[in-house]
This record gives sequence, C-alpha cells and structure tokens, in this order.
Amino acid sequence: MSERKKLVAGNWKMNGSLAANQALVQALRQGVGQPACDVAVCPPSVYLGQLQQLLAGQTAIALGAQDLSQHEGGAFTGDVSATMLKDFGVRYAIVGHSERRQHQGETDLQVALKVRRALAAGITPIVCVGETLREREEGLTEFIVKRQLSAVLHLNGHAINETVVAYEPVWAIGTGQTATPAQAQSVHAVLRAQLRAAGAQAEHVRILYGGSMNAGNAAELLAQPDIDGGLIGGAALKAPDFLTIVAAAA
Ligand code: PGA
Repeated sequence: MSERKKLVAGNWKMNGSLAANQALVQALRQGVGQPACDVAVCPPSVYLGQLQQLLAGQTAIALGAQDLSQHEGGAFTGDVSATMLKDFGVRYAIVGHSERRQHQGETDLQVALKVRRALAAGITPIVCVGETLREREEGLTEFIVKRQLSAVLHLNGHAINETVVAYEPVWAIGTGQTATPAQAQSVHAVLRAQLRAAGAQAEHVRILYGGSMNAGNAAELLAQPDIDGGLIGGAALKAPDFLTIVAAAA
C-alpha cells in the first residue's frame, strides 16, 4: 500500500468563461463528495478570484494555477507572482508544462527557478517533464525526463520532497494517444529512482501522469504502482469525466 495520497488536478489551459466556470465548479462541488484523493482545478489566472469564491466553504477541491513568474515582483509586464497567487488561496501551481516550454521557450533553469519561487511562497509546484514523439523514437525518453528533473533537483535540493512531479509525454497531450500503463509506469519508475538517487524521500513524492488521461483509461493508469494521480487537460472540462477520474483515484 502506497503512503502517497493520490492527486487529480485539472489543467483547464486557456479555456473557460465566467459562466462556464460557474457551471463546471457547481457540478464538481455537487458530485465530488468526500474524495479519498486530493483534487485541484487550475483555471486561467484571470479567473483565480472567481474560482476562489466558487470554491469557498469546502475543502474537497483545492485551487491551482497554471504558471507563475520566476521573479519576486516588479517590472515584469504580464507576469503573475507566487505571492499574488497565494493571495487568492492558490495551493498548487503547474510549472514547466510542455506548452510553456514549447511556445514560451521556457528553459529547464527557468522551470527550476519557478519551482523555487512557488516553494518559497508555500505553493506546491507540479513540475512537468516529458519527451516529444521524436525524442521517444530516438530512444531519448529517459535522458530527456532525467535532464528536466535534474535541473529542478539541482536548484532545489531536498525541497523537492515538497513538490509534485508530473510525467507528461508531449505526444500524448491533447492527442487522444495515451501512453500505455506499462509505458507510463516505466518512466515513473525511472523518475522515482532518480529522486531516490538524489537523496530525496522518493517514496513520499507524488508522480502524476498526464496526457489524454480520461474517464475510460484512468483506472488502469492509476493502478500502476508509481502513478500517484493525474494531470488532466481535456477531460477536466467535463464534470462527469473529471469526477469519474477522481473516483478512479480513490
Ligand atoms: P490532456 O492534457 O489531458 O488534454 O492530454 C494534459 C495536460 O496537458 O496537462
């Protein structure tokens, strides 16, 4: 029996509206009950205030952000700081999502700095790592995910114990092409071994899987010994699907 409580986090990406968020959260609140796992939703940052209000008075669903600045504050137009997120009751922040690495050119070092900022503010970073299809085909999967995690380990040392890691193969994100449970488990085991080798409390750190996880495949993925939850994109926008995944994690 794992000592790790599973976490299911919804990454809403750049989706939603005041009205749609309200309907979604209402359905989630009604359906979630007392989950045996941790649950979080990560809306676009402009909606954090709305979500904080919609989630008030309950503890089943925590609030998360999709990114944060590596800087403390000041002249960084468009950025949002960890302290600001904390102001809105944010508990988790996705850091280093492949869409940010790809479209915003985020580097391993920036990701590591953002993790440090989140931790300093008391926010749990969900650190994303994952290989592209080309990298997988070239046999580089292990090399890539270890390089990405190693940057975070290097800068944050034992604070890594306070983070969540998410393995998200880029080729599986939003494509409907999920990693098989065996494929995912083998990378998760590599990451846990890396944490152990670095002196972290590897049995304590949660490693989520993300990439086309849905209501139909969640149970099998979540049954793998090193898969400690899910980072859910598309399926997080439909309350019944998201709740099915939450139930599968419990
Ligand atoms: P997906 O996205 O579930 O839509 O594949 C997952 C993610 O990018 O976090």
